Amino acid sequence: MASTMHLALVLALFTGQAISVNNGLARTPQMGWNNWNALGCDVSESLLLDTSKKLVDSGLRDVGYNYVVLDDCWSDGRDEDGFLKDDLEKFPSGMAAVADEIHRQGLLFGMYSSAGEMTCARYEGSLDWEDNDAKSFANWGVDYLKYDNCYHMGRFGTPKISFDRYKVMWDAINGTGRPMLYSLCNWGEDYTHTWGMSIANSWRMSGDIYDSFTRPDDLCSCTDPSNPLCVAPGSHSWRMNDLDMLEVGNGGMTDEEYKAHFSMWAALKSPLLMGNDLRTLSASALTILNNPAVIAVSQDPEGRSVARVRREVNAAKDKYGVGEIQVWSGSLYGGDQVVILLNAAGEDAHISASLEEIFLHDGPEGSAPQVNGDWEVYDLWANRMDNKLAQKILDAPVDKLERLFKEANWYNSTEVSYKDGLKRSDPRLLGKNVDKISAGGSFSAKVKRHSAEMYRLRSVGNGGKRKVHAKEEL
Ligand code: GAL
Repeated sequence: MASTMHLALVLALFTGQAISVNNGLARTPQMGWNNWNALGCDVSESLLLDTSKKLVDSGLRDVGYNYVVLDDCWSDGRDEDGFLKDDLEKFPSGMAAVADEIHRQGLLFGMYSSAGEMTCARYEGSLDWEDNDAKSFANWGVDYLKYDNCYHMGRFGTPKISFDRYKVMWDAINGTGRPMLYSLCNWGEDYTHTWGMSIANSWRMSGDIYDSFTRPDDLCSCTDPSNPLCVAPGSHSWRMNDLDMLEVGNGGMTDEEYKAHFSMWAALKSPLLMGNDLRTLSASALTILNNPAVIAVSQDPEGRSVARVRREVNAAKDKYGVGEIQVWSGSLYGGDQVVILLNAAGEDAHISASLEEIFLHDGPEGSAPQVNGDWEVYDLWANRMDNKLAQKILDAPVDKLERLFKEANWYNSTEVSYKDGLKRSDPRLLGKNVDKISAGGSFSAKVKRHSAEMYRLRSVGNGGKRKVHAKEEL
């Protein structure tokens, strides 16, 4: 860890980049909800307030989803002083009152604009109006800005041009004195992953997500730099690469596909912004979104993304021509390791992973010290909440909720942070012990088609003494 940090510092000095912004926000990936995926421009005050209430009553706020983010289509031009007007038909109480109510629910409020002449849905954009707009956001009590890329007036094409355009809003936000999480949405254009961390808390890596497991999309990041469409070759950077809002619960994928989607977003340290309509939240979506053992990987204090250690493209193709099997691995707090066995192929498969592969990034060809230890394997989906109990929670009157949350052994991260829970080895964050790997060995699991299995490996070597990081207080 220490040497990695040192290398990052040296690289930062060479490239003139800050290591990452330090506005005290999103030290772990932000969590919350955004209306765009399920509802597009159908935004209103009641949508935000009903959703806020649902976040509280479903327990999702307490498990960590604390940002309510309003996307495009909320404004109504500018006033004569050049300040954005909120659409009072959609938000009759005005944006400041909406923000107040959201805050009263123990939640934070996010808004959207574009570093362009217009937003993507052709509402007023913030390009060249940054100071005014940042002031409006601050005055309304906004805690988060998602900043898009449409109608950028040709100000793109090199990392420097895009960086400069996005930095103006970063400076304007800072000028207000109100801390706001700054979430870039320039779709990975101009290699955002090389500069996003200097001016923002998170940055989108790709074009818009689609609620389908198999739909190919050239706007996705890719790994073939010789492909001219590959605008953001796979990166391995620290902090929040934003893979776009979640689709869990929107109906386009199976339960297993949604589990795989959620597992990958958590392990890759993407922000976890639910993109479904919470007013019609189903039990099966709730029990994916509220799994504390998976969220603990997302909120791990080390903040390191998993990396792919194996890719098999010749696996059985499904009817869409997709046939990949992948193994992903990454380090977690306290010397633990997360491993994902992803089966994107057309048939169920037995996937195995050896310690040599799992710890590839700690040393090539089995040279990583962890390969010589024994490990316990914890299945992070084995304790998924029962759908019947989740349905009871969704149906319960408010005064019965506390008892039900107790019955469900709900993880309340507003009382005990994920970091503290991990320090205490809270069993809800660890999943279920299902296997053991001896030094130099491997483990395997049956993984259904279009699904993923997700594990936490814990060292049992050295007489059970686990590795303690030099930087214990991250
Ligand atoms: C896109 C953006 C989406 C959504 C939409 C609103 O550019 O990627 O997430 O914000 O604009 O118009």
